[in-house]
Amino acid sequence: MENKPFALLIKDHEKVKDLIQRLLQTSASGKSQRRELLGTLKGELELHEKLEEQLLYPPLEHKKATRDLTLEAYEEHHVVDMLLDELEALDFDDQAWKAKLTVLQENLEHHIAEEEQGLFPKAQETLSAQQLERIEREIADAKKAPDPKR
Ligand SMILES: [Fe+2]
Repeated sequence: MENKPFALLIKDHEKVKDLIQRLLQTSASGKSQRRELLGTLKGELELHEKLEEQLLYPPLEHKKATRDLTLEAYEEHHVVDMLLDELEALDFDDQAWKAKLTVLQENLEHHIAEEEQGLFPKAQETLSAQQLERIEREIADAKKAPDPKR
């Protein structure tokens, strides 16, 4: 059985982890590079979080097996968003910039691991094949739709 719709979400996770790696390799003198990469990261994360929160989490919130992990996932998204906002507000050459980025990376990797090893496998067992297929289709369609911010 194909791992629907999780393959698409896991691909996003890889992309986001890669963007953070690239950001970690920048230096305080590369302010414009930091600004550009952070903008890309923010766009990716916003769409990814939106899709998960609108399409995947709601049915999982109502199942006993996935409820706690799902409620936790919303809060983890929230922390990631706060850290992103703080990073954006900070001067790109501030000495705290990389430290904040590292904390963002740690939070994101924790969240991603919890999804890939906990929530997604449980969702696969808990949701019906039809539900999974519908979510997959909706995620794929949303990704194809032109993003007005780009
Ligand atoms: Fe997530």
